[in-house]
Amino acid sequence: MVRDCSGEVWFLLDLGHDYCCAEPEINAMSNQTLPLDDALYDYLLSVSLRESPVLAALREETAHMEMANMQIAPEQGQFMAFLLKAIGAKRYLEVGTFTGYSALVCALALPGDGEVYALDVSEEWTAVARRYWEEAGVAGRIHLELGDAAATLARLEASDAGTFDFVFIDADKTGYAGYIESALTLLRTGGLIAIDNVLRDGNVIDPDVSDDDTCAIREVNEALLSDDRVDLSMVPIGDGLTLARKRSMARDLQPA
Ligand SMILES: C[S@@+](CC[C@H](N)C(=O)[O-])C[C@H]1O[C@@H](n2cnc3c(N)ncnc32)[C@H](O)[C@@H]1O
Repeated sequence: MVRDCSGEVWFLLDLGHDYCCAEPEINAMSNQTLPLDDALYDYLLSVSLRESPVLAALREETAHMEMANMQIAPEQGQFMAFLLKAIGAKRYLEVGTFTGYSALVCALALPGDGEVYALDVSEEWTAVARRYWEEAGVAGRIHLELGDAAATLARLEASDAGTFDFVFIDADKTGYAGYIESALTLLRTGGLIAIDNVLRDGNVIDPDVSDDDTCAIREVNEALLSDDRVDLSMVPIGDGLTLARKRSMARDLQPA
């Protein structure tokens, strides 16, 4: 007789040399991030994705658009919403809104008095976003700022420094380094930056790929590794998402 850690009692019958309840040993653990094939990805979604009907409808409409692959993956949206709730976020800013999925999933994760700042240059794509924000009942808490993000961020830095909890960067890659600097000004201590597409579909490690966008992402990735203003984690979700937490210079830089 044995008692397992739940307190349940198991009787083991000695049938020759085998115990009848013994399971074959499966070495099912990995200390590397698991690559996901389609079947495993489908399983992950089937047991974890909780997408509201309005988010699903927005994803469906966007899927028919030419630039549909710009939209974040639904599990990434849910992960960001989870982070917003975990840090008690009230103010979320994003650079790159497109048809509004990330802004919507984040707006839905904020409390009633929360605010979203959504920065984009496209009137056409954000018109789709506005429809779904209205339908979801969160349009009133989303400030859409149309225009070049660098100019909008400079304006916000002058008025709203240190007031945001979360900044999501998902626009022109060559602008990322500047957007990260702005984010560090706009965030409160302990606030998070989420930086999208940091693996560039794997192109970051291909020496034959040297377009401006991929080079910009490589530079950002390398610079963040040694940036002591932030705590850092690169998460292999979607196209790769780096999380950088703004440190308090006085407290977080103490030697361990
Ligand atoms: C990858 S999409 C954003 C996807 C979006 N986060 C979502 O969840 O669907 C990038 C967006 O950045 C916008 N963009 C590109 N350059 C920009 C700039 N300089 N200023 C503001 N927005 C820009 C594009 O218009 C586009 O809508």
